[in-house]
Amino acid sequence: MLSSKRILLIIGGGIAAYKSLDLIRRLRERGADVTPVLTRAAGEFVTPLSVSALAGEKGYRDLFDLTDEAEMGHIQLSRSADLIVVAPATADLMGKMAAGLANDLASTLLMATDTPVLCAPAMNVRMWTHPATQRNLKQLQADGVRFVGPNEGDMACGEYGPGRMSEPLEIVTAVEARLSAGPLAGRRVLVTSGPTHEPIDPVRYIANRSSGAQGAAVARALAELGAEVTFVTGPADVPPPAGVRVVPVETAQQMSDAVDAALPVDAGIFAAAVADWRVASASDKKLKKSRDGLPVLEFAENPDILKRVSGMGVNRPPLVVGFAAETDNVIEHATAKRLRKGCDWIVANDVSPATGIMGGSENAVILISDNGAEEWPRMGKGEVARRLAAKIADALAG
Ligand code: CTP
Repeated sequence: MLSSKRILLIIGGGIAAYKSLDLIRRLRERGADVTPVLTRAAGEFVTPLSVSALAGEKGYRDLFDLTDEAEMGHIQLSRSADLIVVAPATADLMGKMAAGLANDLASTLLMATDTPVLCAPAMNVRMWTHPATQRNLKQLQADGVRFVGPNEGDMACGEYGPGRMSEPLEIVTAVEARLSAGPLAGRRVLVTSGPTHEPIDPVRYIANRSSGAQGAAVARALAELGAEVTFVTGPADVPPPAGVRVVPVETAQQMSDAVDAALPVDAGIFAAAVADWRVASASDKKLKKSRDGLPVLEFAENPDILKRVSGMGVNRPPLVVGFAAETDNVIEHATAKRLRKGCDWIVANDVSPATGIMGGSENAVILISDNGAEEWPRMGKGEVARRLAAKIADALAG
């Protein structure tokens, strides 16, 4: 709940601005007071009247007149707000924020405040992946700005990819996490999850049976404790949780690159079932049946992401947690794996078919650390995740 929380909502000029209307409603349903500010461009997409009507407060237009006492008062208000939400955060607004420009009301409010800021980016996919935007993103993250989204999907401009603004309820979850006094508030955490797909040709790939359920549950549990979570996920069966930054990938190499881009973090949780091998030279054309016999697939080794990150110097997260899926001698194999990979903890589980764990809703894990092996009773994957998240919070606090 957000009762009596004061949110200053800066609405940027993008087609996703229409979602900010629903966002205002959702925030108010939960008890928050919302003061909206529209940039000049936002006024082209939503009307100040609809924004004000939903917020039950005057919507401030970006008419930038700091001699106007009302605008000065508004700057005070930005300081007294509990959180500033920028939704949609356009490429232009992110650029201004990263550069420290203050040439209109929205950017001035952002510069003149020490209130935490949460951005929900929304832009064309090429604008999102543009090096300038990615540079700005890194800078803003380093400045302590939090992000929710963008999501991947069909875009209003007809393209497909990352750049869609998170849905209002996802933003609300991120707002709640940001305002929660949870033990992981202010911490950045990375979670890898799901299987990877290693292409054979454009239509075939090698995969594994991971559903991504445990990784998604861990990401959700960490976000619920207030962490800013980057969720790097292969093509999983279960949807990613709300309120985390989702980075979808397909192959182990892409996952490895996405992990590097997410660093530095306070903790890295590597729950993905990464393919150990890829096809050395995947064909760019569909392989055809031929009279010459069966195709021979040659394999190459994939990067071991967990091992690589565990062995990093300055960028090594203070806490690195791996998972070990074993079918026999679980403790012995997982203990050896912890040493081989160089991580701090290993969450080991028995995935032999009789357990029904792989793809199922329950898990029975053994946490292996410097202190030896700690066996947890069989429980739901959500419960395992919450227990693990609580342990991570304790470790980072200690
Ligand atoms: N992992 C990784 N990158 C890889 C392979 C695995 O980051 N290329 C991570 C997984 O996310 C998991 C841990 O390493 O946290 C254990 O993975 P697993 O495949 O079980 O370990 P292996 O080293 O492949 O051991 P083995 O196949 O011998 O059981």
